[in-house]
Amino acid sequence: MKALTWQGNEDVRIEDVPDPRIEAPNDAIIRVTSTAICGSDLHLYRVLGPYLKPGDVLGHEAMGVVEEVGPEAGDLVVGDRVVVPFNISCGHCWMCRRGLMSQCETTQVRAEGKGAALFGYTSLYGSVPGGQAEYLRVPQAQFGPIKVPEGVTDEQVLYLSDVLPTAWQAVEYADVPAGGTVAVLGLGPVGLMAVSIAVHRGAARVIGLDLVPERLDRARAYGAEAVDVSAVDDVASHLIDLVDGRGPDAVIDAVGMEAHGSKPAAFAQSLVGKLPDAVAQKVTDIAGIDRLDALIAALKGVRRGGTVSVVGVYGGEIDPLPMMEMFDRGITIRMGQANVRRWIDDLVPLVLDGGDPLGVQDLATHRLPLTEAPHAYDLFQKKDDGCIKVVLQP
Ligand SMILES: NC(=O)c1ccc[n+]([C@@H]2O[C@H](COP(=O)([O-])OP(=O)(O)OC[C@H]3O[C@@H](n4cnc5c(N)ncnc54)[C@H](O)[C@@H]3O)[C@@H](O)[C@H]2O)c1
Ligand SMILES: [Zn+2]
Ligand SMILES: [Zn+2]
Repeated sequence: MKALTWQGNEDVRIEDVPDPRIEAPNDAIIRVTSTAICGSDLHLYRVLGPYLKPGDVLGHEAMGVVEEVGPEAGDLVVGDRVVVPFNISCGHCWMCRRGLMSQCETTQVRAEGKGAALFGYTSLYGSVPGGQAEYLRVPQAQFGPIKVPEGVTDEQVLYLSDVLPTAWQAVEYADVPAGGTVAVLGLGPVGLMAVSIAVHRGAARVIGLDLVPERLDRARAYGAEAVDVSAVDDVASHLIDLVDGRGPDAVIDAVGMEAHGSKPAAFAQSLVGKLPDAVAQKVTDIAGIDRLDALIAALKGVRRGGTVSVVGVYGGEIDPLPMMEMFDRGITIRMGQANVRRWIDDLVPLVLDGGDPLGVQDLATHRLPLTEAPHAYDLFQKKDDGCIKVVLQP
C-alpha cells in the first residue's frame, strides 16, 4: 500500500510499504477514507526526529471502513464506518475505567516511561504505524473505533479522532466559571475548536491569540475577540490589561513546544535536530528543548487564582518555569494528552447536528490526495496559502 513515511528532518515521502495484517485477536484493519495532518505531526517533522527512524509511517487522525477483524474485535464488523481515536486504549483497565484513556495501562509504553501508545508517534509512544496511509491496523479494536452512520460526510466526524476531543478537554480542564473569560493562545485547528467549544459552552468572553492573520480571522468567525501577538510587546500584561486589570479566569495554551518568539530556544531546537540520534535523545532527556513563550505568557497572564489548561505538546525534561510567580499567584495547571474516548458521547450529537454548532465543517482549508502529503506538510508548516487544516484522501 501507499503510506506517508518519515525520512529525516523536514523530509517525508510517499512510499510503498507492506499492507498491515491482523497481528492480535483484537486487531482490526481499516481502509482509510480520510486522514488529517496535525500540529503534533509538525513536531515530528522538525523537532522529534531523534525518536523516529526512516520509513516510519506517520498519522494519527484517520477514519475509514473496516476491512477485516480479529476474533476478539468486539462488535466491530466488516463494512462498519469508523473514526479511530489517536490514543490506543483498552477500555477496561484501571485508568480507562476512570476516563484516563491516554494513560491506558494495557498499552502504556513502559520501556520509555510513557502513557498509552499512540498511532504514528515515535518510539516514545510505541512506534505504531500511523494512519496517513491506505490501510491502518487498529489494535484494541474492541474499544477504540467510533462507529459513525452513513449519510454524514467524512469531515463532519473525522476530527473526533483528535482535534475535537482535545479541544473539548482543553475547555473542560480550563474550568471557566459561569460568566467568565477564557483566552486561547494559538489558533491552529486545536485552538480554533477550543474557541468554538468555549463559546458553545457559554463562556462570556473568549479571547483568541495568534500571529497568523487568517487564523485570527477564523477565530473571530468562531466568536472570539482576536489579538495579534506580533503587535503586542508583552502578551501576559496585555491579557491582564484586557480583562479588568486582573486577567482572564483561564488561559488555554494550544501552542506547544514550537512557540514563536524565543530565538535562543529555536536555535537550540534546530541544533538538537542535527545531532546524531543517541546524543540528541540524551540532550532532550536531561535538558529542555521546549520554546516556552506561550506557556509563560499563559502562566503570567491568567488572573490570580486562575487556571492554565495546557493542551499544546511539550517534551523537555527540565524546562525552566517562573515557579515563584506561579506559586504566589495561586495558579492551577491541568494538562496532558486528550483522553479521546472520554469526550465522544459529548461530541457526537454536536457533529451529527445538521446545523454544525461547532463549525467543524469550516475547519479544513485544504483537501488533497494522500500522494500530495509531502507538499501538504510543507504548506501546513509554513501556513502558506491560508492553510489551517489539511485532509488527505488515500
Ligand atoms: N494534548 C493533546 O492531546 C494534543 C492533541 C492534538 C494536538 N496537540 C498539540 O496542540 C498544539 C496545537 O496543535 P494544532 O494542530 O492546532 O497546531 P498548529 O501548529 O496549527 O497551531 C499552533 C498555533 O500557534 C501559533 N503560535 C505560535 N507561537 C505562538 C505564540 N507565541 N503565541 C500565540 N500563538 C502562537 C501558530 O501560529 C499556530 O497557529 C500542538 O502543540 C499539538 O502538538 C495536543
Ligand atoms: Zn492530532
Ligand atoms: Zn486501558
